[in-house]
Amino acid sequence: MNLVASKKVQKLTASIFQEVADLKRLALNRGLDVIDLSVGSPDLPPPAFVVEELVKYASDTANYGYTLKGIPEFHEAVSSFYQQRYAVDIDPKKEVLQLMGSQDGLAHLATAIINPGDYVLVPDPGYPIYEASVTIAGGALYPFALLAENNFLPILDDIPLHILENTKMMILSYPGNPVTALADKSFFEKVIDFAKRHNILVVHDFAYSELIFDNHPQISFMSVPGAKEVGIEFNSLSKTFNLAGCRIGYAVGNEQALNILGTFKSQIDYGVFYPIQKAAVAALTSEYTLLKEQVKEYEFRRDTLMAGLEKSGWQLAKSPATMFLWAKIPDGWRSRQFAFELINQAGVAVIPGDAFGKQGEGYVRIALVQPAERLSEAAARIHEFLAKYNH
Ligand SMILES: Cc1ncc(COP(=O)(O)O)c(C=O)c1O
Repeated sequence: MNLVASKKVQKLTASIFQEVADLKRLALNRGLDVIDLSVGSPDLPPPAFVVEELVKYASDTANYGYTLKGIPEFHEAVSSFYQQRYAVDIDPKKEVLQLMGSQDGLAHLATAIINPGDYVLVPDPGYPIYEASVTIAGGALYPFALLAENNFLPILDDIPLHILENTKMMILSYPGNPVTALADKSFFEKVIDFAKRHNILVVHDFAYSELIFDNHPQISFMSVPGAKEVGIEFNSLSKTFNLAGCRIGYAVGNEQALNILGTFKSQIDYGVFYPIQKAAVAALTSEYTLLKEQVKEYEFRRDTLMAGLEKSGWQLAKSPATMFLWAKIPDGWRSRQFAFELINQAGVAVIPGDAFGKQGEGYVRIALVQPAERLSEAAARIHEFLAKYNH
């Protein structure tokens, strides 16, 4: 049989994570100890009470049927979480849509909303599914640059009118991946005004809402007046409660947009495993003290790595949030060359920035998914690696 992928799928590029994993395997085969700072999967455990809830409900065989959608308790839990964490009122019945991870919603939304030829504004650099979802939907992409000199915020006025006339959706993420910058309320106000003027659905990816450091405010897009009229926000339990493999997430906000996505999803999956939903309820309605400790742990990791790297003269911008450092690489390197040589020679795996878009060239993304001692060791190895090239 001669089987060829569809034209849409042919347009999707193979994941960089696989390429880095292959290089990592080769390095391991050569006997090198590899410190893996490539994939953003949390190494920290979920809270014990969440696991207990999961096990309790998973041991009852009555809980293995299709759930079809979120149980009312889950919708209530999201609403109370949004009220307590971000001072946002969310109607649990109309303004919450349960997802199999925020990826599920991000992957399907474009197909549910846009027609071939409609433009979607996406961040460059940006999390890969934003672009891929538009390609799958047959839409047109307009990547907007996130540059350090603009605090990684887009210049909305730079987007040409003829593009805006055909734009249906815009994706933002503050703090995001790989760009970890935060947005303030006034930026979101501008976005809402812009979206109303041009009739654009705003999609805010808030997957890192609970990994915000140094007492910066945690600003949900939904907390800004008018947001629900124009937008939805994706959130997840993956990074907040270290449940990345336990697939559950949600979207909140504009009822119409959520209904459209919900209708589409009702054809695609049959809901999240009931024990996972119950575990998520326990997590979302807990005391939240663990969240504070988790933030401290990531701050400590970030500071440890940065202090180590400063010794080699590589000064990184301090991440205000997320589990990543978006690191401008030393002059004279291309992202891929730097990342790949770092694995081969130093046994430190990071992701080249250009994998996230054209504007990512000149950067690498470093994930803080190892304990501080390993990050110190990584910094020491990078120091040696850079010293070789500085002579
Ligand atoms: C920015 C961002 N959004 C969404 C996701 C998807 O997360 P999940 O599907 O586990 O909720 C990720 C995962 O790494 C991410 O980095």
